[in-house]
Amino acid sequence: MEHELQSLEIEAKEQLTQLNDNDQLEEFRIRFLGRKGRFSGVMRQLATVSPEDRPRLGQLANGVKKKVEKLFEEKFISLQTVSETGDRDDFGPDLTLPGRCPVTGKLHPVTQVMNEACEIFEQLGFSVAEGPDVETDHYNFEALNIPAHHPARDMHDTFYVSESILLRTHTSPMQARIMEAQQPPLRVIAPGKVYRCDSDITHTAMFHQVEGFLVDRDISFADLKGVLTVFLREMFEQELPLRFRPSFFPFTEPSAEVDIACVMCNGAGCRVCKKTGWLEILGSGMIDPEVFKMVGYDPELYSGFAFGLGIERIAMLKYGIDDIRLFYENDQRFLSQF
Ligand code: DAH
Repeated sequence: MEHELQSLEIEAKEQLTQLNDNDQLEEFRIRFLGRKGRFSGVMRQLATVSPEDRPRLGQLANGVKKKVEKLFEEKFISLQTVSETGDRDDFGPDLTLPGRCPVTGKLHPVTQVMNEACEIFEQLGFSVAEGPDVETDHYNFEALNIPAHHPARDMHDTFYVSESILLRTHTSPMQARIMEAQQPPLRVIAPGKVYRCDSDITHTAMFHQVEGFLVDRDISFADLKGVLTVFLREMFEQELPLRFRPSFFPFTEPSAEVDIACVMCNGAGCRVCKKTGWLEILGSGMIDPEVFKMVGYDPELYSGFAFGLGIERIAMLKYGIDDIRLFYENDQRFLSQF
């Protein structure tokens, strides 16, 4: 009987390590620990051994049974864990694996620069106004002192919807719209899309501008210089040398184009600035008395300045982008850098 108990223990251990699901475990339980199982058989045999041997053999049989019961319980727990995690070699998910990084969307670089421009002007006390992309000939040209024969009206530049309706070619019509509706003092910027029939590495048929103007009593060119100097230094995050160059726009007199020292070569002269050391960045000037008269302001009482800047141009210089079309190709490799 001693021998039988020994082989029973070895057999039970062996079978327990081999089985690997709950059904097999239940079969094992019936076979070894059940009412008609191997251990019950051994216990029955105890009745037949001599009374001297009975206590010793009884103790031995109980010890083996307890051992097997313990191994059975351990196996039961380990099978339970495996079925919860679905992983036989492991007791849970591998927490050392790197996580999956979700891809987050971002604002388009043009929108980012546009927002930045608006924020700087808002800090200078300007309010933001938006107007229609589909504009009348009147606001786009006439009210801005652009006469019928002006080259800006050329069919090759302007997208006409009908003879008197067009896609605005600049944001300047917002000057006329706002001045017509409100009285000075005014300090307004008008950001938005503009359209011109043009396409190459520095032009797209649609691009973005920010128009700005300020009207009050005793406004001088010095005020214009002050506002634009602060704006450009904030935008390019450096103390940039500026140059105001005399120019012409029908709706400002005098007019000036503003250049910044080339941000690529710091004014030394390179391909981007065509060896001049300067980059043209915006158009500006003192609002023409003719424009004031058309909106019913007295040019003797009020004066003001206006300016218009291209957002793509600023974004290209700020980030060193050499082809404007990259903004509108929706290439993730380009866009995800901003
Ligand atoms: N509207 C002009 C353009 O698109 C830019 C401009 C120049 C706006 C001078 C102004 C200004 O307000 O004063 O080219």
